[in-house]
Amino acid sequence: MAQLWGGRFEKSTDEEVFAFNASINFDKKLFKVDVQGSMAHAAMLCKCGILTEDEYRSIREGLEGILRDVESGELLITSEYEDIHSFVEAVLTDRIGDPGKKLHTGRSRNDQVALDMRLFTRADIDEKDGLLYDLLKCLNSLMQQHMDTIMPGFTHMQKAQPTTLAHHLGAYFEMFRRDRERLADIRKRMNYSPLGSGALCGTTYPLDRDMTASELGFEGITRNSMDGVSDRDYLVEYLTALSLIMMHLSRFCEEIIIWNSDEYRFIELDDAFSTGSSIMPQKKNPDIAELVRGKTGRVYGALMSMLVTMKSLPLAYNKDMQEDKELPFDAMETVASCIRLFTGMIETASFSSERMRSSAGGGFTNATDLADYLVNKGVPFRDAHGIVGRVVLHCVDRQKSIEELSIEEFKGFCELIDDDVYENIALENCVRRRITKGAPSKDAMSDVIAENTAYLDVSNEGRSPF
Ligand code: ARG
Repeated sequence: MAQLWGGRFEKSTDEEVFAFNASINFDKKLFKVDVQGSMAHAAMLCKCGILTEDEYRSIREGLEGILRDVESGELLITSEYEDIHSFVEAVLTDRIGDPGKKLHTGRSRNDQVALDMRLFTRADIDEKDGLLYDLLKCLNSLMQQHMDTIMPGFTHMQKAQPTTLAHHLGAYFEMFRRDRERLADIRKRMNYSPLGSGALCGTTYPLDRDMTASELGFEGITRNSMDGVSDRDYLVEYLTALSLIMMHLSRFCEEIIIWNSDEYRFIELDDAFSTGSSIMPQKKNPDIAELVRGKTGRVYGALMSMLVTMKSLPLAYNKDMQEDKELPFDAMETVASCIRLFTGMIETASFSSERMRSSAGGGFTNATDLADYLVNKGVPFRDAHGIVGRVVLHCVDRQKSIEELSIEEFKGFCELIDDDVYENIALENCVRRRITKGAPSKDAMSDVIAENTAYLDVSNEGRSPF
């Protein structure tokens, strides 16, 4: 049991209490950002005359050594320490002696952990942004390949109108693009340094908070020290953004699972992204899509837990806040692997244009187009709707598609129908005529894809490499 405190205690901590209170088993993830924060803090203490040059050099070299040794595996982060902050300070003091004891001047673990979580979350936001970027790139290239791939568009899971695979995928492009924008918003709002907030009421030392903030890449400093140590809004916002990413992935996965079924066969998943059954030799299951769908609940769980943990917490720091780590870390990792695997899964899948085209041929997906044809011949839309409804009923009884009716049959429903009806209700033409912005015609889609490409070119600039 290695602790940073103990002077006012007459008894040592109960072992189970120590273990219950400790966070090292999960906050060791913060090791690198903790050292990074301490380096900036020490540099600032030196600049403000609180540490001598020699003390600062010794602290900096000590921290560099700890970083190196942990990364090489020579130094292990063990559970004899209460948390990652205690570990770094204890090892530092062990290695460099007295200057190590001065590192914590003008700092509390409260502002230290607040800083660490922000640095960690900010880096994680950048990682997710990169993964979403790769997914968007993959989607845009699939869209380019499938502008002519006719498929049924669905409402209520019933075939509704003909569209293209590019158009369908384009809907997901929009969702993931919004997800990136949400991340950028959150990053902007949370990018302020809480370091220097102390335990809750700042500090009596003349610290230069702006210096550490700019050193650590923050836009500025938090403006109230109580808020600085106790604000976890950005985690709630981030978990919300992660939940929405998962919501989008889960909707897409659900469709992939349906499309991959024997009944649809719109898509065939690559062997490398499918799994088998221990009993049924013929099976090739879409487990990755199902798992991504399933893990959505887990990420929503982390969001709920964070909201409930923070509910009614009085100012300022309370130990409840230590619960801001395990589930959020789990959510961050889960979402990273879900986006990565999902991208690999759709990148390697093959889409069956034939199956999609023939499916779009059933279900009277061109019924709206027949009504529009009648409107163009002067029939009021509501009447046209009624006529086409009767045409469809007739076709259902005879197990025919609309375009299989003879011109005589058509005329039985409306005298205005001529031979040009066949051309008007051919699926390719139904799609071609959907020219409004955002609709599936090739012209409209080409514009969107060109915009997507420009967006991807621009938004790749200045993206942090990882
Ligand atoms: N492990 C703690 C946490 O994650 C660090 C802050 C501890 N502060 C305190 N006053 N006990 O929240």
